[in-house]
Amino acid sequence: MSALAELLLAHYDDNARDLPWRVGPKSSPSKQINPYHIWLSEIMLQQTMVSTVIPYFEKFIALWPDFSALAAADEGAIMAAWAGLGYYARARNLVKCARAVHSDYDGVLPQEEDELRKLPGIGDYTAAAIASIAFGKRALVMDANIERVVARIYEISTPLPRAKIEMKAVLHDITPQARAGDFAQAMMDLGASLCSVKNPKCDQCPIYELCKAGQSDTASSYPVKAAKKAKPMRSGMAWWIEYDGKILLVKRDEKSMLGAMMALPDDGWNARQDGDAMLKIALNDAHIGKIMQHEAFVQHSFTHFSLKLKLTSIELVQNDAFDKQMSEKAVWWPIKDIEQAGLPSLFAKALTIKDDNEKGMK
Ligand code: ADE
Repeated sequence: MSALAELLLAHYDDNARDLPWRVGPKSSPSKQINPYHIWLSEIMLQQTMVSTVIPYFEKFIALWPDFSALAAADEGAIMAAWAGLGYYARARNLVKCARAVHSDYDGVLPQEEDELRKLPGIGDYTAAAIASIAFGKRALVMDANIERVVARIYEISTPLPRAKIEMKAVLHDITPQARAGDFAQAMMDLGASLCSVKNPKCDQCPIYELCKAGQSDTASSYPVKAAKKAKPMRSGMAWWIEYDGKILLVKRDEKSMLGAMMALPDDGWNARQDGDAMLKIALNDAHIGKIMQHEAFVQHSFTHFSLKLKLTSIELVQNDAFDKQMSEKAVWWPIKDIEQAGLPSLFAKALTIKDDNEKGMK
């Protein structure tokens, strides 16, 4: 084992974070590695911080304790439980993956990276993380934290994402045969603690002596990143349509952004274009009581664009004709239970515009 791996693993044995899916030095001796827990946590941890993931992970394993339970669950309930975690394609793939594991693998997750990569939602990173953490395979696990650590150890000055090939090559040299899962998690923990993006604490680092950037006091300059393109700003409108203590929610099209999530009706905004400010449901003027376009808006950041979403609220005085247009995609949801609707954060934020407005008027 390389000196670097030895130092890092010794540091992990003393400092590993105690995480609910992790079997580490701080876990009780009776805790066993559970591949379902490792898979679920790794899917949730893609693009999401550990502290955000923990309560979602706990909720999911309480509701659906294994692959077969998740495979049998209602997709709408899973999407609702995922609400707020973002990147909803992960949740749609989670369902597909659980169903594939249940039907094609008898509910037992395969152990090999190549086999894992065939499953929905499992790419190179996740396959390597599961193979090493759940099954002890020697796999090259590289997430953003590990990229940063590696870039600093070797002072890699090629900009990301081009640097990834170089980073994989050096990761290959330092990843040990034994304890490969602990090594990956030790690297992640180091990146999440001492080897932080800003103000790295090189003076406390267990591999300081072996780290080129640490030695030259240049850690903050790594990794080098290619200049980012500015995100375009899109605008859109959502509608709060209320009748008899209920609000109209629609299930978004599978193929759209936030696909298969419950949402407020909107004007068709997407990553490429603004919405057209038109409600896609026909409303008879005679049905409309109070209508108000609110001044405030919410701003929400997606991966490739930001969205300014405005809100128009409408109180209906009658909804009989309107009801006829409702497909299985639309539902009248009791306003008092809106927290249980599982709205993505964008729409949950949009609802607060109306609340704030009402508080302002009182
Ligand atoms: N980020 C992604 N996977 C992780 C893990 N297993 N432990 C800590 N942070 C992580």
